[in-house]
Amino acid sequence: MPTMTEVEFNDFKAFIYQHAGIDLAPSKHVMVASRLNKRLSYYQLASYSEYFNLVMDPDNKDEFQLMVDLLTTNETYFFREPKHFEFLKQEILKRWRGREFRLWSAASSSGEEAYSIAMILAESLAAKQWQILGTDLSTKVLLKAQQAVYMTDRIELLDQHLMQKYCLKGVRTQENTFRINERIRQRVRFKQLNLMKPLPPKIGKFDVIFLRNVLIYFDNETKKKVVERIISALNPGGYFFISHSETLSRITDKLDMVKPSIYMKR
Ligand SMILES: C[S@@+](CC[C@H](N)C(=O)[O-])C[C@H]1O[C@@H](n2cnc3c(N)ncnc32)[C@H](O)[C@@H]1O
Repeated sequence: MPTMTEVEFNDFKAFIYQHAGIDLAPSKHVMVASRLNKRLSYYQLASYSEYFNLVMDPDNKDEFQLMVDLLTTNETYFFREPKHFEFLKQEILKRWRGREFRLWSAASSSGEEAYSIAMILAESLAAKQWQILGTDLSTKVLLKAQQAVYMTDRIELLDQHLMQKYCLKGVRTQENTFRINERIRQRVRFKQLNLMKPLPPKIGKFDVIFLRNVLIYFDNETKKKVVERIISALNPGGYFFISHSETLSRITDKLDMVKPSIYMKR
């Protein structure tokens, strides 16, 4: 197995920073090498610089996306940070009146966050109109989100009642899996969106935006640009959720903190 030199690591680091805003610390050297190693084996390449040159060739767009997928970290699970879902239910949805409710799970990963929210919306808004947009940079996780099939392990925080109402248990060879039901899936759309790029003009406005567990990968300058861009799509009075392990201190003056990790747009 070839070793990744410091120069090679720095090429990948500079690339993913420029493309996705992801700021890889030097301590991620081994992780990057091991994630990309299988692609070197696949092409039978002798060095990481050969692979770098291969993905930078404009004719290799699919491999380029595959490399981006490998350099993102997609850890997620149903009802992660449960207090956010409680706040959504008690403080936002109970008071919701009128037109269609629109929510954006920006950096949705494989969809667990968007579908957790969808179950809460289905419970709280009943017959009212609502829709969710889930977006991510990685096409691999977006495909998983669209398929909406998950393993039955790591669902400790998914309530049994919601599981029975909105999920279909797999049978026979699919025994350890479940699928989000059609009623929920039809209200949740997934699309590729790079937070580093201008927003698509037709994205519209949202009442709530979840941007959780992605700002940790960005430096302050990138955080400012990304947050500014995302909240331009938030309605005044709309809510913005980040993770409890993240902070918006000195990032924007357009949001007021309602609770730690929950903000409202002025
Ligand atoms: C750790 S996951 C967070 C998933 C979910 N929001 C949660 O809190 O469980 C971070 C996600 O951010 C995505 N991501 C990283 N940089 C991005 C960018 N520039 N544009 C869009 N998504 C990005 C990654 O692909 C990954 O799926």
